[in-house]
Amino acid sequence: MSNPIFSEKTIREGVANYGTPFWIYDRATIEKRIQELKCFDTVRFAQKACPNLSILSIVRNAGAVVDAVSAGEIIRALRAGYKACENDKQVPQIVYSADIFDHDAIELVKKHNIHVNVGSADMIQQLADAGVRSNLTLRVNPGFGHGHSKKTNTGGPLSKHGVWHSQLKDCVKLAQANGMWITGLHMHIGSGTDFEHLATVCDAMRDASRRLGSHIRMISAGGGLPIPYKEEEKGNRIDIQAYYDLWDKTRKDIAQSVGHDVALEVEPGRYIVAESAVLVAEIRAVKKQEDKLFYLVDAGFNDLVRPSFYGSYHGISIVSKDGRELGPEQDVIVAGPLCESGDVFTQEEGGYVVTRKLPTAQVGDFLVLHDAGAYGSAMSSNYNSRRFAPEILQNNGKLEVIRERQTFEQLMENEKIVSL
Ligand SMILES: Cc1ncc(COP(=O)(O)O)c(C=O)c1O
Repeated sequence: MSNPIFSEKTIREGVANYGTPFWIYDRATIEKRIQELKCFDTVRFAQKACPNLSILSIVRNAGAVVDAVSAGEIIRALRAGYKACENDKQVPQIVYSADIFDHDAIELVKKHNIHVNVGSADMIQQLADAGVRSNLTLRVNPGFGHGHSKKTNTGGPLSKHGVWHSQLKDCVKLAQANGMWITGLHMHIGSGTDFEHLATVCDAMRDASRRLGSHIRMISAGGGLPIPYKEEEKGNRIDIQAYYDLWDKTRKDIAQSVGHDVALEVEPGRYIVAESAVLVAEIRAVKKQEDKLFYLVDAGFNDLVRPSFYGSYHGISIVSKDGRELGPEQDVIVAGPLCESGDVFTQEEGGYVVTRKLPTAQVGDFLVLHDAGAYGSAMSSNYNSRRFAPEILQNNGKLEVIRERQTFEQLMENEKIVSL
């Protein structure tokens, strides 16, 4: 399996210039995905998927706005050039969308007049207490959820997200009592949409809109658009037009019942960036445990956590260090350098380690983990005191650093040794 976006020459050039491991993104892929979504009135990038400032500015330049789920994400969005809200008539460039405010977040929301998509009644009260008087949207928990993993299911009684559907009216009253209007509804019920389920979500949106009354001006379909991670899924991409049509019909039904236009937003993270990037590592050991063959690489779950956390599948290819032809395929387990038995890239949900057919490779060859642009670098950690890997951008045929490798000094810069 080869990677279609980055040539072997580019991977070798990246290794020679930046060392391993490193992330490499392709600007054109991000722009193409945003273009595909332009049938929606507003494309809002869920920046949690990949918040690098250069990626945000590419997204902005391509005409998409952003959400923010923390104070840090508000600051990133502003730094990437997104503007605060000037009035309630404009589509807000930044929407704070969460179930709570921490103290930093509410201060920034007030200071920059950031639009809020509230996920709890307490948020409305806290805005009122802070003296904010602006239009709001409500994230609805419709009473059910859906997702590619239990950890990405974001609706139903066991989910912390959104306002429970039967409490919408109470939120509307609370907002109005404090001089604020709920002008939109948002539903993100999980990552990994399928069409059968989507019809139920659209019905739930119609139902929720009835509780809101005629103030509704916008609905958001949330994110959750899947991408084909497995080779056999590659020919079967989500049909964006069919996805749009279902939501468009929903918005038109709502518009008809309230007697004015209702705008339609979509809020994907994964769809926009997942396929734009790979993680490149070096094979540092090839060893056998009884009859099982392992390739041990210099990237771990501190870099890409999705296989360990969700049992997610990422395509893998190998690039020889010297341009030689690789040997025949064999069954391999790919694992990282961490002092953790779960540090395995070839595993399924529940932590079951599996093998992958990969070419015979040697120490020093490069292993490429595909479709790593969403929730890849964004979920990295410093576990085992490993440094954040650099992020590189393939931009009009050239490679540019968009985040340097963290230094050992930076790794410890906020720590102090107590005097003993
Ligand atoms: C509120 C909200 N919107 C959008 C997204 C983006 O989801 P995805 O990356 O699957 O499109 C998420 C993901 O967690 C989310 O919680």
